[in-house]
Amino acid sequence: MTRYEFLKSLGFTGASLMAVLTSCVREEDTVIDAPRISTTASTTTPTVPVTPISGTSDIDKITNYLLKIDISATSTSALKKVGGYVIQNNIVVAQVSAGAFAAVTNLCSHEPKRKVIYSPNPTNATPEFYCTDHGARFDMTGKGLNSYGSKGITAYKIATDGKVVVVYA
Ligand code: FES
Repeated sequence: MTRYEFLKSLGFTGASLMAVLTSCVREEDTVIDAPRISTTASTTTPTVPVTPISGTSDIDKITNYLLKIDISATSTSALKKVGGYVIQNNIVVAQVSAGAFAAVTNLCSHEPKRKVIYSPNPTNATPEFYCTDHGARFDMTGKGLNSYGSKGITAYKIATDGKVVVVYA
């Protein structure tokens, strides 16, 4: 029963009812919007929070990527240094010079073996991709550099904001 109903049941009506109702309100009284509690259970699945690894940089606009690598992660920390590389999803990704990356398939074109790695060439200081099976060599664009590598291999585009490396076709 509300206070209004209670006072009415006591016989207060019209102006006398209003006078009693308003006389009980003090200036310091405040109105609080009480939270509404629903008695029906929610049927929606809670949203799992997703932590963005790259903020709102332009590379977030690349949606059809093949790989998105957080280079601060322990498993991919090799990419933090020049000459370091990782292989994920059969793609070799390397930091070939400060802040510059390259990516190729690890599938050799000489024979279908997944043995292509990144190999900074110690003799001419030019970075290369290299097949450990027979020695096919490829440049950063996938172009073959010797007879074993004459067919070339697929190279991918790379974008990075310094924290995340995105490999896309
Ligand atoms: S399989 Fe790669 S060089 Fe032969």
